[in-house]
Amino acid sequence: MDNNDWIKAIAEGELKEGVPAVIEVEEKKVLLIRSEGKIYACGNECSHYHGPLSDGLIAGHVVTCPWHNARFDIRDGHLVAPPGLNGLPSYETKIEDGQVWIRQNGKGTIPMPEGEDDRTMLIVGAGAAGNSAAETLRREGFAGRIVMVTGEAYGPYDRTMLSKDLLSGEAPAKWLPLRGQKFYDRLKIELMTEKPVTAVDPAGRAVSFADGTSMKADRILLATGGKPRTLDVPGADKAGCYLLRSRQDAEAILAELEKAKAAVIVGASFIGLEVACSLRTREIEVHVVAPEDIPLAGIYGEQIGGRIRKTHEENGVIFHLAQNVKEFAGRDRVSEVLLSDGSSLKTDLVIIGVGIRPAVEFLEGSGLVKDGAVPVSARLETSAEGIFAAGDIALVPDGRSGEPLRIEHWVEAGRQGMHAARCMLGSNDSYGGVPFFWSKQYGSSLRYIGHAPKFDQVAFRGNVTDKFFLAGFYLAGKLAAAATVGKNRELIRLGQILEAGKSLSPDQLTDPSFDLLAL
Ligand SMILES: Cc1cc2nc3c(=O)[nH]c(=O)nc-3n(C[C@H](O)[C@H](O)[C@H](O)COP(=O)(O)OP(=O)(O)OC[C@H]3O[C@@H](n4cnc5c(N)ncnc54)[C@H](O)[C@@H]3O)c2cc1C
Ligand code: FES
Repeated sequence: MDNNDWIKAIAEGELKEGVPAVIEVEEKKVLLIRSEGKIYACGNECSHYHGPLSDGLIAGHVVTCPWHNARFDIRDGHLVAPPGLNGLPSYETKIEDGQVWIRQNGKGTIPMPEGEDDRTMLIVGAGAAGNSAAETLRREGFAGRIVMVTGEAYGPYDRTMLSKDLLSGEAPAKWLPLRGQKFYDRLKIELMTEKPVTAVDPAGRAVSFADGTSMKADRILLATGGKPRTLDVPGADKAGCYLLRSRQDAEAILAELEKAKAAVIVGASFIGLEVACSLRTREIEVHVVAPEDIPLAGIYGEQIGGRIRKTHEENGVIFHLAQNVKEFAGRDRVSEVLLSDGSSLKTDLVIIGVGIRPAVEFLEGSGLVKDGAVPVSARLETSAEGIFAAGDIALVPDGRSGEPLRIEHWVEAGRQGMHAARCMLGSNDSYGGVPFFWSKQYGSSLRYIGHAPKFDQVAFRGNVTDKFFLAGFYLAGKLAAAATVGKNRELIRLGQILEAGKSLSPDQLTDPSFDLLAL
């Protein structure tokens, strides 16, 4: 619907306060909402991966996507929080003859701001945080120069897809880029690939590149993400042993998968388990070796960890838990993995997924790094004025406790990138997000909101063996985080409760007659 015609949408009486309705207009779904007496209409498909917003949660003027919690303002469709990219198409509404009529008045795309600005913004890193910052600068009307550099050969792409649909073969590599080059050209975002930064001069607000050049900027954002850790055991650097962080890593693994019959995955955290799932989709024999007794029990507790283990086993994964790798053996390349209990596993390749450390080597001597990460203020500014940091490298004061947190999630990095961009333009707002992440294994998405490095109670709504359940993680009786399969609206609501610094009791969370959505 690109023209200016009014279209009859729905009988006015059918639209109840706060209850979304969806209509189809020229094969596009439109969401209609009556909120505080007014009627709003916007696209119903999330700009991230087309999640149906009508299945999400509307609070005030903001709708949250049920899949990965992007947020949009229903009044004009603008993006409130990533991982959405564009805003939503928006529509004017009117009521005539008892009918609601709509007419499109916005596409949700980011316009190139008019006017002049002689400032330069330099973004180091083209990942979730860097790309979000570049887009936000334009969305906020910044008309000056934006340079975004990355050490990789590719511009911004969906890193989260690497371990999932890319390795399983369900998504082709052409789906990875977040945007096409035309997008960056139109918004005059100068994207420089294979341009690693080797040093930062905080006083001069300048960076040096590996090619010997350097650049000064008015504001700099550091968003260089993480580097995968490897194992300090003999043979970890042999051919056939892989780490997975970049598209290039994934391409190398994909080439191996063409002929591989068996793989050993070291590490039973998210990357390891997602890779295990992807390789089982390809019917490769998969062994997972990890020191813990139950996968992911430190994050989700033993019951959910046990469910995850069972699902993998039902799909043919062979676990070797409470085990360490002693050696990666083989003549020219790895062909056998020796374990601490004296057993060994024959393999065609090894994928090591044992966590990351922040990519901060290039900041050595800059004074910006503490304990291997970059501490920032609530405005996401480092100890050097005008230099900001976001994403996996940043140690950010928690919006509620003030405790410095370093979070390694895609959505969080995008939101920090957005916030940092606004602060680069002068905002004094404090970052206050509640972290959210998801993991997808065997077609089921497990979503998590909050931050609970420690918990002493897990309260369930539904049974962990049910198709859908909700879990709350408590420390000393206070809700710290929640996770779900399928109860996405309730999870969003619990996120809002956490964001407001509130709690609810384990009994309330457990009691199915207690309406969380009415809170
Ligand atoms: C395989 C995989 C799957 C994942 N799945 C999920 C998931 O399902 N859900 C979830 O929430 N999170 C997931 N994550 C984590 C998520 O991807 C990260 O938290 C997120 O990408 C962090 O964003 P970032 O912008 O901080 O860093 P990154 O996205 O890593 O981007 C860093 C950028 O900096 C560049 N760079 C690094 N050093 C330099 C340098 N010296 N000079 C110039 N450029 C440099 C890199 O090339 C890159 O462009 C996954 C991660 C991986 C690896
Ligand atoms: S599909 Fe909406 S946030 Fe991912």
